[in-house]
Amino acid sequence: MNKQTDSRYLQRIQRTYRQQSAAGGPTLLLGIETSCDETAAAVVQDGTTILSNVIASQADVHKRFGGVVPEVASRRHVEQITLTVEEALRQADKKLEDIAAIAVTQGPGLVGALLVGIAAAKAISFARGIPLIGVHHIAGHIYANRFVTEFQFPLVALVVSGGHTELILMRQHGTFEILGQTRDDAAGEAYDKVARALSLPYPGGPEIDRLAHAGTPSIPLPRAWLEAGSFDFSFSGLKSAVLNTLNQAKQRGETIAAADLAASFQASVVEVLVEKTVRAASEYKARQVLLAGGVAANRALRQQLADRCAQLNLPLVIPPLSLCTDNAAMIAAAGYISYQRRRFASLDLNGVPGLPLSDL
Ligand code: KG4
Ligand code: ZN
Repeated sequence: MNKQTDSRYLQRIQRTYRQQSAAGGPTLLLGIETSCDETAAAVVQDGTTILSNVIASQADVHKRFGGVVPEVASRRHVEQITLTVEEALRQADKKLEDIAAIAVTQGPGLVGALLVGIAAAKAISFARGIPLIGVHHIAGHIYANRFVTEFQFPLVALVVSGGHTELILMRQHGTFEILGQTRDDAAGEAYDKVARALSLPYPGGPEIDRLAHAGTPSIPLPRAWLEAGSFDFSFSGLKSAVLNTLNQAKQRGETIAAADLAASFQASVVEVLVEKTVRAASEYKARQVLLAGGVAANRALRQQLADRCAQLNLPLVIPPLSLCTDNAAMIAAAGYISYQRRRFASLDLNGVPGLPLSDL
């Protein structure tokens, strides 16, 4: 994109923004998410109301490989993206002319996958002269909670997904301070690796969750509390302990009840996540605790966090299951904050696999 085209484009979208603001009425954002293995598009009104939320999952395609294959994911996104956007508009009963801006996941994620969503978003933005907004995937997961209730600040968010485990402090909309994060594996990654060791299908998180409910947490496994006062996490030691338990049993010719091992692993993960979250919430006098990310679908985590927050009188917000895993409505909700702040991207927006979390 040459400089002249880009500056003309930016002037044009600022003009569209002013016209839309002057006209008043609801503001519709089209969200697009293609960071991993879901091709997703959604139409969201004023950052808080979902008009449509379409997800074309590729999980079945990747299942036989035991994980996401990046090249396969990109190709699938290319096949699905146009249909998915059209379907999101159709279900919302809206046309592209009704859309005020486009919010798209900029990172983190698989670069080839991200680029498919970004290319589609840029094309629509350029053709319609409407603002383009790059959104951090984790900001999106946090903003999935805004469909449940309005945020009360300061708040502490526990983000647990396949690639992330973070405790985040928000003092106002769109600002994120990382209080702690994983030093090795993400919580979801640990679930997926343990599931693989137990020969469960991909994605392993829901499988372990299911199996754990049939077992008892009777096998002693470590909890990584780290230094006193630290809000960081570590799950690789726990994962190794599970693998060692399995190997030692095998060498001794014993069988281990997979359900008990799953329950014990889950108990260790959940205890550390819950305790660090409520500790952070107390220390920062949070008025709300938010749970976000794919692992937020975990039943034990939801239940135990709810119990602890109730004991401590801390209001807890958890998205419905359908908004815990990757979707585009959450991207549009986070993008709406950038929209209100006029933080628009230029046409050289690029997919960034390791994008750091910054303010909206
Ligand atoms: O947020 P997400 O859909 O994608 C990423 O951004 O990573 O999270 C996917 C992760 C996977 O690791 C999956 O195994 C895990 O979330 N997950 C679960 C459950 N449902 C999904 N982990 C534990 N229990 C679940 N019920
Ligand atoms: Zn995610």
